[in-house]
Amino acid sequence: MELAVFAGRPFFPVPQPVGGPIIEPELGREFHRLADAAFARNRLTNSGPLAARLEEEVAARHRCGEAVLVANATLAQMLLLRALGLTSGEALISANTFVATAQACEWLGLKPVFCDIDPETLNLSPGDCERKSGPETRAVIPTHVFGVMADLPALAELAGRRGFRLLADAAHAFDCDRGGIPPGGFGIPEFISFHATKFFSTVEGGAILTGDSALARELRELRNFGFDRPGDAGRLGLNAKLSELAAAFGLASLPLLERRARRLGETAEIYRRELAGIPGLEPHRLDRLGRNNHRYFPLFVDEAAFGLSRDFLRLALERENVLPRTYFHPGCHRMGLYRDRPGVPDLPVAERLLGRLLALPTSFAEVEARAAAKAVTDLIRTMHDRAGEVKRALAAA
Ligand SMILES: Cc1ncc(COP(=O)(O)O)c(C=O)c1O
Repeated sequence: MELAVFAGRPFFPVPQPVGGPIIEPELGREFHRLADAAFARNRLTNSGPLAARLEEEVAARHRCGEAVLVANATLAQMLLLRALGLTSGEALISANTFVATAQACEWLGLKPVFCDIDPETLNLSPGDCERKSGPETRAVIPTHVFGVMADLPALAELAGRRGFRLLADAAHAFDCDRGGIPPGGFGIPEFISFHATKFFSTVEGGAILTGDSALARELRELRNFGFDRPGDAGRLGLNAKLSELAAAFGLASLPLLERRARRLGETAEIYRRELAGIPGLEPHRLDRLGRNNHRYFPLFVDEAAFGLSRDFLRLALERENVLPRTYFHPGCHRMGLYRDRPGVPDLPVAERLLGRLLALPTSFAEVEARAAAKAVTDLIRTMHDRAGEVKRALAAA
């Protein structure tokens, strides 16, 4: 096949973004059935029966006692920080996370302190957390990046010894585990995202997972304007409720998740097998510590061996309507919001690795997934074989 960088015509007729929503035909049918039932009941929000059922299902799936559903994971984190009294001082977080983890801290008055990452898992490094902790540290908030769960036992030891709280950003980690223990199962509160890009989605949505029923009760009040008795707001809350239509979308996808996981696993396997012979590409290992949902397929690009830099590979793929993501480069600490603040931290591992990382799409629009994944790897092989010409064409554009 002729590459679009030379021929001008993309291989895929429609864009294939990382994180395009996963919508099986059965999902649409069941969603409409549940939505019609909600219309017939005349009940669209305010902790209706669909949201209540989804809370039970999500808690059971993560074996954690309680799942408090909310409108998105950013609000989940804010409510959790508020409920835990984390409203001043500093929070240790990973530079390798979505900026929401840092922003939710700031809304609550907690200053994010960015720490370096472990080169194997790409998660918050307990050693660097220890180095960057100080008298103002109140919390450590690791992110389970790409569903690889952070080293919660080591961070729990550190937090216990130094007297700060541990909670976790499990936005990517639905149905993932570490040594058989899922998010919410480690005895610390975790929050998870059900955004449309995620393995499990309610379009927008999220939850706090906890085994602490008093905390769950408080969070349910906080997400509903702080109402602790009918008509009486006893504390400062906000509106973070999940609607019945969002819950219907989530409930409709639950029976499809095993098949979805199998299909994503197959796509990952095709990527791994087909990319194995191409020099300079190394997939990030997602399942070395436990189960992964394979929603993401991140790989590292070694420019010298592959022939193109990560960014040139991304540009060449974009010409083919394959839209990879450079998660989470340049790192939160280098975003406009943070980079000009005094004392931008020195994070050598994150700086070295995140600039080489590219995530490929794992779900595809209007094409069969296995054929699409194979086609993406064929394109990448041709780009490697013709790297010099590709580089010249992109540089001239
Ligand atoms: C690691 C991480 N944390 C937090 C969030 C925020 O989630 P939400 O979009 O549900 O607010 C995301 C977003 O997608 C994320 O990837």
